[in-house]
Parts: sequence; structure tokens; C-alpha cells
Amino acid sequence: MIATFDEYKKEYQKSIENPEVFWDGVANEFSWKQKWTKTLEWNFEEPKVKWFIDGKFNITENAIDRHLPAKANKTAFIWEPNSVDAEHRIITYQNLYDEVCKLANTLKSLGIKKGDRVCIYMPMIPEAVFAMLACARIGAVHSVVFAGFSASALSGRIQDSDCKIVLTTDGAYRGVKDIPIKAVVDEALEVCLSVKNVLVYKHTNTPITLQDGRDLIWQDVVSKAANTCEPELMDSEDVLFILYTSGSTGKPKGVVHTCGGYMVYTCYTFQNVFQMDSGTEVERSRNLFWCTADVGWITGHSYIAYGPLLAGVSAVLFEGVPTFPDAGRFWKVIDKHKVTHFYTAPTAIRALEAAGLDFVKPYNLDSLKVLGSVGEPINEEAWHWYNKNIGKEKCPIVDTWWQTETGGILISSLAGVTPSKPSFATLPMPGIQPLLVDEKGNEILGNNVEGNLCIKFPWPSMIRTTYGDHDRCKKEYFSTYPGLYFTGDGCRRDENGFYRITGRVDDVMNISGHRIGTAEVESAINAHADVVESAVVGYPHDIKGQGIYAYVIVPSTTKDHETLKKEIIAEVNKIIGPIAKPDKIQIVSGLPKTRSGKIMRRILRKVAEGDVSNLGDTSTLLDPTVVDEIVKGKL
Ligand code: PRX
Repeated sequence: MIATFDEYKKEYQKSIENPEVFWDGVANEFSWKQKWTKTLEWNFEEPKVKWFIDGKFNITENAIDRHLPAKANKTAFIWEPNSVDAEHRIITYQNLYDEVCKLANTLKSLGIKKGDRVCIYMPMIPEAVFAMLACARIGAVHSVVFAGFSASALSGRIQDSDCKIVLTTDGAYRGVKDIPIKAVVDEALEVCLSVKNVLVYKHTNTPITLQDGRDLIWQDVVSKAANTCEPELMDSEDVLFILYTSGSTGKPKGVVHTCGGYMVYTCYTFQNVFQMDSGTEVERSRNLFWCTADVGWITGHSYIAYGPLLAGVSAVLFEGVPTFPDAGRFWKVIDKHKVTHFYTAPTAIRALEAAGLDFVKPYNLDSLKVLGSVGEPINEEAWHWYNKNIGKEKCPIVDTWWQTETGGILISSLAGVTPSKPSFATLPMPGIQPLLVDEKGNEILGNNVEGNLCIKFPWPSMIRTTYGDHDRCKKEYFSTYPGLYFTGDGCRRDENGFYRITGRVDDVMNISGHRIGTAEVESAINAHADVVESAVVGYPHDIKGQGIYAYVIVPSTTKDHETLKKEIIAEVNKIIGPIAKPDKIQIVSGLPKTRSGKIMRRILRKVAEGDVSNLGDTSTLLDPTVVDEIVKGKL
């Protein structure tokens, strides 16, 4: 582990001068059944990236078995339920082994084999992590779908990767809500022919209907399964999981990650960024990590499930929401379990800041050592509030920049080791070679510059393909600037070479840290029978970072606008889920289009931001009067 800034500089240098030797050294720390014969093969044209070629192993052996028997009684997870009155659960590494093996055997008995796709649609309970690991144990490919997505979004994802089975629960608690998860699955499966079984974990005792021959109750079958399961021998480049994420065009795409590189990189970054292995043995034994993400997102994959378990640490798994029963819940959980390393999103920090310090004051938070941020740019004000009121100015803050496609953290400070700077992700991790380019793809050299963020050399946990459509992967990430991986983010490099991510430069929005494509929301809005056309943009939002602003054309004869807006929101909820619902809807009679029919989003963004003083050149528009109407009608 890197322990000083000088060590970081040396390690970084080594990783750039000789990446293969560098990553060989990191990968050697893991347990392999057969060593790789070649470290890396790559080109960014096809693209083709392979790491640790011919290496054979199983990631669960490294995340679980490797820690046994020494850590058999060590806590892997403390599960904190949604309700403050419910009991928390402790899952030791031995419990984890038993539960994962039992579930893996159950999946096998249901005919699931290496390479089969398994959909996991579950709330934040330990069984969701068991499910991911059970798939990995037998070489099945998990596709976790965030349990807040609608039936239609779920079925689209199940169909895209032809999942054979869905693992789910009867219901889910989220704050005051009791969500009927199984009912959503039932609706989704009406159009999914590939699914042969549904395994339902009884969690809320919400009444459910079981389809004969298809649906099974988890507790009934898993309890009967054997608690040892030989791990499937996996090749480094066998697929570990698919995770759907939004792009700038079309439907969400299935980002594919493979076993070897993902294992090596998530563990390496977890250990170095959060520094849980620093300090005395006693201090280390008390360390407790808490990442508040959901396993339905990449943060949950890499820094709830895989990274912490590969590193053999103890972590909190939280079912609830930050504001239930009140805005002190995070701080209460930190004090209750003595969390030392806390990793959350700026949107949560801003919401809790807005709730006021009265919700923080009852808690002393003195167990905390390191704070983290992820998912969107953290504004300076939120950074300082977090630093002062939660970290009490004694906890380094790591602002970790990365993406579903990167698999792990690419740019971040290392807690207490490398410098941090408010609202800057700062420096690249060893092995990461960022560069800034201008619109034409020319590299922007030097410091104090701004441009589009690209990466010029592969790293182990990078995206391999988009499931079932390699061309899409090429177009989306490797074609804008040939020879480079394009992140879709704008970025500034300051006078010290520190990186600050400024936000997406494509048609992807970041709503409360969730990535949503404008095209996706538009197509959901357009599904409403009265909508002729729509255009969606992001706009600055105090809590969410960005909100969704929709311009919608409806025929003048239709119902009153308030009813219509409610219906449009309901349509988006139905097609995608509540996270994508527009914050503002403006009914318009036309959209600013060029003569070639292209919507000038630049203008729509400015109007949504409230910056109408300088809308730039509108002379190329087919009908410039549309702009006046939009400005007048701005919400
Ligand atoms: O725009 C960047 C933003 O989130 C995008 C990736 O979203 P997703 O794939 O859902 O992964 C989120 C969790 C890793 C990026 O393209 N983003 C993520 N982290 C940061 C960030 N923007 C600024 N600072 C960050 N620390």
C-alpha cells in the first residue's frame, strides 16, 4: 500500500514507464489457480483489451475463501435495516462463505451454468451481495438492476441479455415506503421469454403471487442446499458481470466487466484510496467501511461488494435512505456502529446540509477517520460543510472520480497520503494516464487548462464491450477521439496538475448522482399519447446537482396543462422509474431546430439555467421566433 506522497509519485512513475511489470506486481498478491502467460494485449481501435491472459482463478475464492479460516469470525458486513427499531444483522466471513455456497448450489440445481445471465433485482439486504457472489462462484454473469427501476426498464434489461433467472424479494422498504418488488418482476416478465425461474427472498412479507413451476421461495430451497461449492475455474477475461448504464443516445447499454482485471483493480484502488490498512493493528481491527451506494450501481459493485471483500475488511450495508426517520440517520448509524471510513454522494451531503445542523449535533461522529465522495462533482460549499461538520476537520476527504465503464476509481486523492483540494478529484491513480483534448482531439498540454477528459492507456478494470453490441462500445467511447478512451466528461487541470471534473459534455445528465440520458427521458415522454415531441436538458439544481427540464410540444386542443404534466411524469415513472421524472415541464409550441432538423440544445440549456441574456447566434434556426416564446414561457 502506498503510504506517502513520495511513494505515490514513485509508484505512479513506475506504472507509466512499465505498466505490465507494475500490474504483474499488484496481481501477484491474489490467489490464482494458473498464472497468466501475458499481462496485456490491447488496441483502442477495435477496441480490444485483455489483461492477465490465460490466468485462471475465481474471484470469490479471493473475496471469501482466501480470508478463511483466519477471518472466519471477522465481520464481513453489518446490515443496518431501514427501520431504526429493527435488529441489525452481522454477517461474518464464515457466514458469507456458507450463504454464498448454498445459493450457488441452488442456482446450479436450477440449471444455471457458467456464462448464463442472472438478473438480480433486490433491495439493499445481505442476500443481494450473496446473490452476486453466488453467480461469480459458479461463473454465471450477474446483471444487477437497481430496484427503483420500473417493470418496463427491468424487462428491457432482462431481454437485452437473455437472463435465465431473476433473483428478487417480495418487497422492499425505502424510508416510509413499502415497495412491492415481486409485483414489478411479475409485470416485467410478461414479455421476457428467457426467464425460467424466479427466486424470491421473503423480506417484507408483502403478499405475492407465485407462478407455478417458475417461482420459488428462496428460504425454502436455499436452506436445503449444501454449504460448500467448488468454485468454477474462470479465465481472467471471462465475463464477471453486466451493468446497464445510460449513454448519450438510445437505450441503456450493458457495460461488460471481466474477472481478472476487475478483481485486481477494485481491490488495489479500494486499499490505496481509503487506506484502511494504515495505523496500528488495534486501529485496523476497529476499522469499519461504509459506502452508502446501492448495489444496483457500479459504486455498490466495486466498493460494497467486491473491493472491501477482496481486501478482507468489515463494512456496513444499509437498507434505508438518508432522511428516514429523519435527516440524522447517517450520523446515527455512524455512531451506532463506529464507522471509520464513510463514502457517500454529494447529493446526499447537500440534502443533509439543507436539513440543518440540528440533525448532526446529537451525534459525536468521533469514530470517523476518512470521508469519501463519488458520483458527481462536489461543489465547494458542500465539501466544506462535509469537512467541518462531519469530518470535524480531521478526516481527509477523497473525491473519487470514475464511471460504470472504468470499473474502479481513476482519479482521486489517497486518504491522508496525497494532497486534497476542495472540489478536485486531484491526481490519477497509478496506471491511469489521463489527458485533456480540445474539440478536434488535439492534446491540451500544460497546466491551468480545460478540455475533454480522455484516457490514453488501458487499465485492468476498463469496459471490455457493451453486451451484444461491440460496435456501440466502439462508437460511444473510442470513436470521438480515435486511439483514446473518451469519458464524456469535461475537466480542468490546475496549476499543480490536479484534475477537477466539471461535468458531462455529452447528452448524459447526472441527477442526484444517477446517470440518465436525455434521449431515454425524451422517448419516455414521447410515449404519452398527447405528446408530439420533446427535448430534455439538465439544469443546475441545489440538491440534486442537476434537475431534468423537459420542453414538450402538445397539440393545442389537448387537456389542461397541469393534468398533462402529471400524466407525463407518470409515464416517465412507468417507463424508467422515479429517478428520471422531470422536475420541470414547459409546454411549448415548437423547439429551436436548425434547418437540418437538429435541436439546438445549447439554447434550451441556457433557458433552463435561466441565463437568457446571451443565447448566441440563433440565425441558423428554422424559426427563430420559437426561442422568444420559450424564453417568455420559462418556468
Ligand atoms: O460525470 C461523471 C460523474 O459520474 C459519471 C459516471 O456515472 P456512473 O457511471 O453512474 O458512475 C458513478 C459512480 C462512479 C462520470 O462520467 N462523476 C462520478 N464521480 C465523480 C463525477 N463527477 C465529478 N466528480 C466525481 N468524483
